[in-house]
Amino acid sequence: MPQSKYLVVYYSRTGTTRAVAVALAKALHCDIEAIVDNSKRAGIFGYLRCLLDTLQNRSASIAPPKKNISGYELIIVGTPVWAGSVAAPVRAYLEMQKQRLPEVAFFCAFGGRGAETTLAQMQRMAGKTPCAYLAVKAGDTRSEAFQQQIGEFVKAVATHLKSCIAKRTVQHEMTQSAPAQHERQHQEHQEHQEQREDSLPLGIVIDSHAID
Ligand SMILES: Cc1cc2nc3c(=O)[nH]c(=O)nc-3n(C[C@H](O)[C@H](O)[C@H](O)COP(=O)(O)O)c2cc1C
Repeated sequence: MPQSKYLVVYYSRTGTTRAVAVALAKALHCDIEAIVDNSKRAGIFGYLRCLLDTLQNRSASIAPPKKNISGYELIIVGTPVWAGSVAAPVRAYLEMQKQRLPEVAFFCAFGGRGAETTLAQMQRMAGKTPCAYLAVKAGDTRSEAFQQQIGEFVKAVATHLKSCIAKRTVQHEMTQSAPAQHERQHQEHQEHQEQREDSLPLGIVIDSHAID
């Protein structure tokens, strides 16, 4: 069983996405898991591999995730922006988990541009609308604005989940009250029948009067 209701999952090559992931997990008091990439991505050849994977829309080979996402209410997925796109290891994770994803939220770390296209791509890959999203520029993770962004993200998650829970409670109450309502209708029907049976002879009398 998971320790918390939310899980932050991220891939980071040089540490920025990790810093955002850690800040979010801390603010939400939730579990965190790094996506483990099986490819070497350090140095210039590593950089080129990242670029090629992205330009060719290739997923990476990743280690099987340790956390089972069933049981979490919300998965928060984070990626670095690579050529205006989701990083290949995160693409692989989303493809792997797509059918099992509960509510989602997304974040990305970027150098200067491409954050919006990346977040939109994550939404398409997951097939779900995120309840919150966040884009953090590399180098901004120590700023006051960053702390504010984290606070707003956490608020958006809390508001969304509160409305989800309220919706679920109404649905649950409706399904729970359906049998009770059926029972009540059945009882009313029975009573009506009994009344009709009581009044039936009278009706016959009226009819017979009418015949007379
Ligand atoms: C292959 C590659 C492509 C990148 N392309 C972009 C880009 O299109 N736009 C951008 O703003 N930053 C780009 N970046 C920079 C990263 O998104 C940025 O440095 C980010 O903070 C890295 O996150 P990380 O430290 O978690 O790996 C690219 C980085 C790499 C390695």
